[in-house]
Amino acid sequence: MANSNLKKAKAAKNDEFYTQYSDIQKEINAYLDFNPNVFKGKTILLPCDDPEWSNFTKFFAQNFQRFGIKKLISTSYAYDSKNVDFDYQPTLFETVDPRFEVTKSKSHGKIFTITSDVNNNDKIDIEDLKWEYLEGDGDFRSEEVKKLRDESDIIITNPPFSIFLEFLDWIISAEKKFIVICNKNSLGSKEVFPYVMQNKLWVGKTPMSVDLLFSVPNEKSLLDNKSIGSGYRIIDGKVYARSQSIWITNIEHGKRHQPLSLMTMADNIKFSKHKEVRGIGYKKYDNYDAIEVPFTDAIPSDFKGVMGVPISFLDKYNPDQFEIIGSSQRSCHNNFPDLKKYDTYWEVKQSGEKTGSSGKKTNENPNIERNDGKNNYFINEEGHIVQSLYTRVFIKHKEV
Ligand SMILES: C[S@@+](CC[C@H](N)C(=O)[O-])C[C@H]1O[C@@H](n2cnc3c(N)ncnc32)[C@H](O)[C@@H]1O
Repeated sequence: MANSNLKKAKAAKNDEFYTQYSDIQKEINAYLDFNPNVFKGKTILLPCDDPEWSNFTKFFAQNFQRFGIKKLISTSYAYDSKNVDFDYQPTLFETVDPRFEVTKSKSHGKIFTITSDVNNNDKIDIEDLKWEYLEGDGDFRSEEVKKLRDESDIIITNPPFSIFLEFLDWIISAEKKFIVICNKNSLGSKEVFPYVMQNKLWVGKTPMSVDLLFSVPNEKSLLDNKSIGSGYRIIDGKVYARSQSIWITNIEHGKRHQPLSLMTMADNIKFSKHKEVRGIGYKKYDNYDAIEVPFTDAIPSDFKGVMGVPISFLDKYNPDQFEIIGSSQRSCHNNFPDLKKYDTYWEVKQSGEKTGSSGKKTNENPNIERNDGKNNYFINEEGHIVQSLYTRVFIKHKEV
């Protein structure tokens, strides 16, 4: 197989990771805790889904009445378009239905909707799901699914990681509310980070450190082929794919408004539990006017300048307490054209305007003024770089 086809096939396998019911429940509860009416009267779209495999539809269908949802729409992607290595097996749900068509079953996506108590049993749940074949394969980029997006208020799913940025643009360009899963690394990328800086997107309730596990349609393939995904775990005999995933959203939840409780710089130096800080203090970068804070809980409460913190800080980020200035990741800087003229990265792309390089060779594109665009480092007395750091997010305390 040509190299690019092989890559595509691998990417497609990594796309078939199905979210666990309990993970959906834990995350969604946080939005309800903050605002019990968050889904009330709303049309919710679950794209890139498939109730026969996935738990998103099941979860929202079962809670349709309790959440006060107006309409639930879920769309699935056709087997023939998936480029996967497992055989197609239509479910009983589909085959027993008089509308079942053998060829369409593989080549077309499906749409599932719930609006009312179709079976008149005085409750609205999964039994009230209506379905039909879509005109096309259910690609979220198709005109038909775009129309569904446009009629909905909130988009919730675990989308295909291989085209995640396109998916995010698809949501943000339509100005929708969303709760979605993505790869942890996406957060610091030049495409996503500017939204974080602008408070247009933030980390969900589930801590970034949680190792989310996903079911896969072909467990054997996951076990046989270690190159797929980032590994697996076996729990009670069932194989789950591990993936560096997090929830991201633009819907409020309580964690985002909990202030971090912090010590002053002097107290940190005296009492910090981190040996890197205790008795030592905070180093200044040699290529940027900021101090290095290696742990989020070591952020000094009384430092007025810019601080470089690990990307995991975003898990604790409270916009009332901190301002995000930028990141040491290339292109995540104030000059990103998006911040000035555009609402979405998608619009930046359409404009053809340069967004900076993510290549390794060039040193153009300073991340923030006076930062030379390399990862931050310190220089010893002999002028040698002694420490090159991981990606840092630059923050400041908000003036009160
Ligand atoms: C990560 S899985 C998640 C499935 C389900 N949402 C869940 O969380 O259990 C992503 C799904 O998107 C489907 N998919 C891939 N490309 C797609 C596209 N262009 N449009 C719609 N769905 C797509 C994949 O086949 C896969 O079933």
